Amino acid sequence: MSLTLCSIQFAPRTDRVVHMSTALAKALQLTSTNMLTMKMGSRTASVSLRMTKKPGKHIILPLSVKSQLMVPRSGQITVQASGTKEVQLGPLIGILANGTGSVTQPFGVRSSMLKSYISAGSKTSYYFAFLPSDIDWQAETVVAYFPNGTGWIRKTVPLPDAVYNRLSNRRVDRSISMDQLKDRFVRRGIGIFNWSFFDKSDVYKLLEEDKEANKHVPESHNNPSPDRIREMLEKHRFVYLKPTAGSLGIGIYRLTYHPKRGYFVRFRRGGKNVLFRFNNTSGLFKLLNGNGRMRNYVVQQGIRLIEIDACPIDFRFHLNKNGNNQWVVAGIGAKKAGKGSVTTHVKNGGQVMTPEYVLDRVFGAKAEGILEDAKQSAIKLAESIEKHGRRNLGELGLDIGIDQNERVWMFEANSKPGRSIFKHPALKAQGNSSLKYIAEHLAYLGKFRSRRES
Ligand SMILES: Nc1ncnc2c1ncn2[C@@H]1O[C@H](COP(=O)(O)OP(=O)(O)O)[C@@H](O)[C@H]1O
Ligand SMILES: [Mg+2]
Repeated sequence: MSLTLCSIQFAPRTDRVVHMSTALAKALQLTSTNMLTMKMGSRTASVSLRMTKKPGKHIILPLSVKSQLMVPRSGQITVQASGTKEVQLGPLIGILANGTGSVTQPFGVRSSMLKSYISAGSKTSYYFAFLPSDIDWQAETVVAYFPNGTGWIRKTVPLPDAVYNRLSNRRVDRSISMDQLKDRFVRRGIGIFNWSFFDKSDVYKLLEEDKEANKHVPESHNNPSPDRIREMLEKHRFVYLKPTAGSLGIGIYRLTYHPKRGYFVRFRRGGKNVLFRFNNTSGLFKLLNGNGRMRNYVVQQGIRLIEIDACPIDFRFHLNKNGNNQWVVAGIGAKKAGKGSVTTHVKNGGQVMTPEYVLDRVFGAKAEGILEDAKQSAIKLAESIEKHGRRNLGELGLDIGIDQNERVWMFEANSKPGRSIFKHPALKAQGNSSLKYIAEHLAYLGKFRSRRES
């Protein structure tokens, strides 16, 4: 297998003769070939090959071959040869997204995020966004969206080599029909990540199978009964109640118990942080409704996080897989909770900082070692979640806490991590490397794998 970048141009001809510069043919080890199968995504075309003396690495495709392969644009792209008779252009990558129903703004507020993935990948690959309804499984084509200035332009392309799942609607993403759609890709050998949103309780459960990784998970119980909550409060004096399918801190309660002063519960209501005190658990459970059985909730041991200015701090570790299928910590943001908030979300008054600043303030000279240790733990957690979850993963946003005894804890694994930490000026470069890893990993999944010759 040899792989390199080249430039594609189209010629207004209807024959099936593809011209290739000798430099490119040499890089692809195709010197003595004249018949060739060309591929792009799920399409193939038989062509005859002719060499040109043009300097540099070029392919000139007649328009007939361009339309048969549905090549979306001219310009720079990766080309890969397997053996001496097959050449593939691509990789062709599809980003699966939800639609808004609007023709002019098909992806609404998510447009700019989708476009940032597309522009990072488009230097070496063909990238498009698509909705589930854009696929024609019979014809094996997709009516794809390509960025076009401030809007989008639609072009029909073959089924892609790999899919990046950015469905943003949890209910849709976890539906049976989406499972079937993702399965159809897998059955055709089209790699996809990530499969779907996680439920917190599923992730805690699967980590129980790995003793080492599970050391980083606070004690957690799904669907707790009142007795279970009471028992956890007796044991830890401090617990979190979290909706298992929740996000953004919505529906989270922070409970503490002081044998002399009673039960305290903090949460967010109507855009404000509120605090209640109860002498006994009956009032507390009435507030938590359902007489204390918190359906679809997890009760979790509370962790005494490190603090700055009396505000707890936690961290978002953004992990990606690289072009060799290995996990890398692409970026880390520290998050300081807003005053009185039970979570560190920016929406609830939280503030993003660099981990170096925070750890240096809290731990001084020990900071560097602690950060390194937390990175190793995050990678171990990602590997374990992937192994025990039995689905390929390519990206994770881990919510990590460090306690006052330097222990590393994981509160949540997000399979569709947002990119808000990368808005911090000091984290922009890490944001770009995370985009680069996504593109490299999609190329890997699309089987564009051998070392790139420059
Ligand atoms: N067990 C816990 N101990 C201490 N803080 C926690 C705990 N669980 C969650 N938190 C805090 O609440 C935030 C939100 O919790 P998380 O599990 O990430 O839920 P969400 O899906 O709402 O983001 C965390 O980032 C952390 O600041
Ligand atoms: Mg979270």
